[in-house]
Amino acid sequence: MAKDLFNFEAEFKLGIDEIDQEHIKLVNMLNTVHQLITDGSKSKAIEYFSLTIAHYVVDHFAHEEAFMARIGFPQLEDHAKVHENFKNAFIKSLPRLANYDEAAFRAALTDTFTWIVNHIGRTDRKYAQFYLAQTQQPPAAGPA
Ligand SMILES: [Fe+2]
Ligand SMILES: [Fe+2]
Repeated sequence: MAKDLFNFEAEFKLGIDEIDQEHIKLVNMLNTVHQLITDGSKSKAIEYFSLTIAHYVVDHFAHEEAFMARIGFPQLEDHAKVHENFKNAFIKSLPRLANYDEAAFRAALTDTFTWIVNHIGRTDRKYAQFYLAQTQQPPAAGPA
């Protein structure tokens, strides 16, 4: 699903390996839920979505906020607020999943996927650019 929807390298990869690995894992996890629904394993899909992914999202946000603190990113507070709002809405929505039919569950999954991809591409990209601007060496002037 993910690879068909957007260009991974151009829109998704931030150039910070530890963060990129977590984002890849997150997208893979959402693809797993998608596959479980397609296989007809709705209860497994719900369990995976509301336990495994929910925990991973919380962990990822915490790692990311620690990373932003480590690099002295000035907009950390705003970014953390965005995480907090998503986390609250996401966790609040989880108990409702049990009553969802397949179409509603797929819609919820798509909403989550869209939010995460947009968040990475826009909001996460800001601290990545800040970090890379500090760490990257200017390109060499030419052959010695
Ligand atoms: Fe992220
Ligand atoms: Fe983030």
